[in-house]
Amino acid sequence: MSTLAATTQIVRPARSFQGSVTLPGDKSISHRYAMLAGLASGTTRLSNFSTGADPHSSLACMQALGATIDTSNKEYIAVTGTAGYFTASDTPLDCGNSGSTMRMLAGLIAPHPHTYTLIGDASLTLRPMERIRKPLSQMGAQLDLVEGHAPITIHGTALRAIDFDTPIPSAQVKTAVLFAGLQAEGTTSLSESVRTRDHSEQALRAFGATLTRTGEKLSIAGGQKLSAIDATVPGDLSSAAFFLCAALLFPDSNLILDSIGMNPTRSSLLDVIVALGGVIKVLNVEEHHGELIGTIQVNRAPTGLKGIDITGALSAQIIDELPVLAAIAPYTRDGIRIRDAKELRVKESDRIALVAQNLKAMGAQFTEHEDGLDIPGGQELHGATIDSGSDHRIAMAFAIAALRATGETEIMGAEAAAISFPEFFEHLDALSQR
Ligand code: S3P
Repeated sequence: MSTLAATTQIVRPARSFQGSVTLPGDKSISHRYAMLAGLASGTTRLSNFSTGADPHSSLACMQALGATIDTSNKEYIAVTGTAGYFTASDTPLDCGNSGSTMRMLAGLIAPHPHTYTLIGDASLTLRPMERIRKPLSQMGAQLDLVEGHAPITIHGTALRAIDFDTPIPSAQVKTAVLFAGLQAEGTTSLSESVRTRDHSEQALRAFGATLTRTGEKLSIAGGQKLSAIDATVPGDLSSAAFFLCAALLFPDSNLILDSIGMNPTRSSLLDVIVALGGVIKVLNVEEHHGELIGTIQVNRAPTGLKGIDITGALSAQIIDELPVLAAIAPYTRDGIRIRDAKELRVKESDRIALVAQNLKAMGAQFTEHEDGLDIPGGQELHGATIDSGSDHRIAMAFAIAALRATGETEIMGAEAAAISFPEFFEHLDALSQR
């Protein structure tokens, strides 16, 4: 649920999808740079910072904790950090709609000697928070939840290192432990059941911390100090996913994505696009602060759109992209089967239920499972009224499905797109050939 004014967007069918686009900065990386800049010494300059509301919630929290945020320069956001000493905040830290802000911030602030309250909007207040309370309390932190949810009260105190095995694949939980471990006494170690996105590891190193990896175990020594950096945030691959899927829908589509993040722990999405029938040419790749940034060109193979089974570790690795893949599944030849994706039920909305509701509205046949969906291919969809459930990824996923439907589609709650991608509908209109 967001506090943005409700808007409805009409999406008409397209003939093709073509053009070149530079996407706003990656949401995950923007959160981490904002938070570490807030803790570091000196002034960090961040170019191409995400325009989404979520990373701006992280910036606002940093300001409430004593960092200075300067947005007066058009080229970058300047964050002057607190040199390791967050102040008390006389207002609750408002995380808005952002699970990343709430979970990662909890680990970052728990070692500071103040009492903080973390709040969020109606959707965030429903999301599970026990997953961060557990490891942080093993480290000695005191977190009070309300029946496993926000508001969270953190009574900050000195923390001790732990050896932690993550029971559910979650980069947010991993990050909460790493951020707390950075400031704890001793060396914190962590093993993951599935290798999740490693932006925190890359960002910590960029800000000057040392992390080591022995086999599956990641370790961080406490008491390390961070220093400001100058960085450009790569374009957001999860935002690009909507346009990559749109490009799959038309035989003559041609899409160029400029300066896009291609971190290997995020790029399984590109393998899925290729398996479905996309042809991806990498035109250029560079590395900045451990993050790969590339320009790619995407077309559709002459053989058309096949199908795919998405299960196991792959489901966890492309969890944010599953709604849009599900939304285009009826247009594939062989359909898409998604399993092991129960986490989708506790995202900004119950994404399995909302995808099912909206696929049904567009006339699709499918089977819903507790941990996924079976969506047969070879189906035609019709325009419909879509309920975004105030969830950004649902609003954008069904705007893509609408491009190949017959008739117009009305996306209710389209304003939610601004949580991660405020420019989405503008770019969609420019790239859709009618
Ligand atoms: C994110 C991790 C994932 C993802 C979310 C962003 C991150 O969540 O769904 O959109 O930036 O670390 P989980 O950690 O809950 O899997």
